[in-house]
Amino acid sequence: MNLARFPRRRYTPAPTPLQPLPRLSAALGGPEIWIKRDDLTGLTGGGNKTRKLEFLVADALAQGADTLITVGAPQSNHCRLTLAAAVREGLACRLLIEERVPGTYDPQASGNNFLFDLLGVEQVRVAPLGADLGAEMQAMAAEVAAEGRRAYVIPGGGSNALGALGYAACAQELMAQSFEQGAAFSRVVVASGSAGTHAGVLAGLQALSAGLPVTGVNVRRPRAEQEGNVHRLAVETAALLGAPPPPRDAVVCRDEWVGGGYSIPTDSMVEAVRMLAALEGVLLDPVYTGKAMAGLIGMARSGEIASGERVVFLHTGGWPALFAYEGVLRAGGAA
Ligand SMILES: Cc1ncc(COP(=O)(O)O)c(C=O)c1O
Repeated sequence: MNLARFPRRRYTPAPTPLQPLPRLSAALGGPEIWIKRDDLTGLTGGGNKTRKLEFLVADALAQGADTLITVGAPQSNHCRLTLAAAVREGLACRLLIEERVPGTYDPQASGNNFLFDLLGVEQVRVAPLGADLGAEMQAMAAEVAAEGRRAYVIPGGGSNALGALGYAACAQELMAQSFEQGAAFSRVVVASGSAGTHAGVLAGLQALSAGLPVTGVNVRRPRAEQEGNVHRLAVETAALLGAPPPPRDAVVCRDEWVGGGYSIPTDSMVEAVRMLAALEGVLLDPVYTGKAMAGLIGMARSGEIASGERVVFLHTGGWPALFAYEGVLRAGGAA
């Protein structure tokens, strides 16, 4: 795997830490749990989108773009980080917000929504669930062009093959650290949403012949649909890398921790967020990593992740959204 072939901007100065979580492991009385701290990537607030944007923004700049356009949910970390990358590069940024849960967009909301304003978003447009988001973004790009400017459209989550290269790079970084730190892992656990992170890690591990399985924990879609999405993108990413395609049966997307739907709190998410904060001082988020960690905890408690395993949880960030969920996350709050 030769990632240096692809133009890249650098937004994180060093590898993100790979650390054991001894107090969480002891509390669960089971597997040894480690964490890859991709909540500590660069750009405002960090998170997984930073790695994808290193490749996507390099492409935007190569194409002479002066404006980034992307789409996400009302508390989108991806929108925050795309906007942050635009600020870093001196580009403008326009956001399309998909109101996935009707009635949930509040322009005055805290969390990421507040940061859109603080970071100087040029335009926020809201679309209802079911809208043709690709067509909406093309219309926004046409408006930018009509102003004599040039837009670059980034898909939701930065999840195309170019963006997923960021997570092939993370897979490479993880394997190097695993070797350096003398810690061999039995599996990776990661939140699976727009699929770019999961697909990129899979494609990267496959390209490295790492023999390290990945368990995705869904945040939105049913298992079969998500596995199809991840596999399709992993195959495209592998093709871009010139690596063999990951087999279909390497794609595992568990849907037992989605609860009532995307971004809707669950008791197990609240428990996971509170445990990681109180035991390890690590902030998860309510929409992605809280549910993914709830999955890891659930699998450890049921014995599905055996007590002798050493597991690595890929922390994909998202803490700014905590401030939009304070009511359910405080001790005694109701999910
Ligand atoms: C904090 C966080 N974790 C995980 C994900 C899921 O990553 P992906 O969309 O690449 O599947 C997202 C996506 O927005 C996210 O913001």
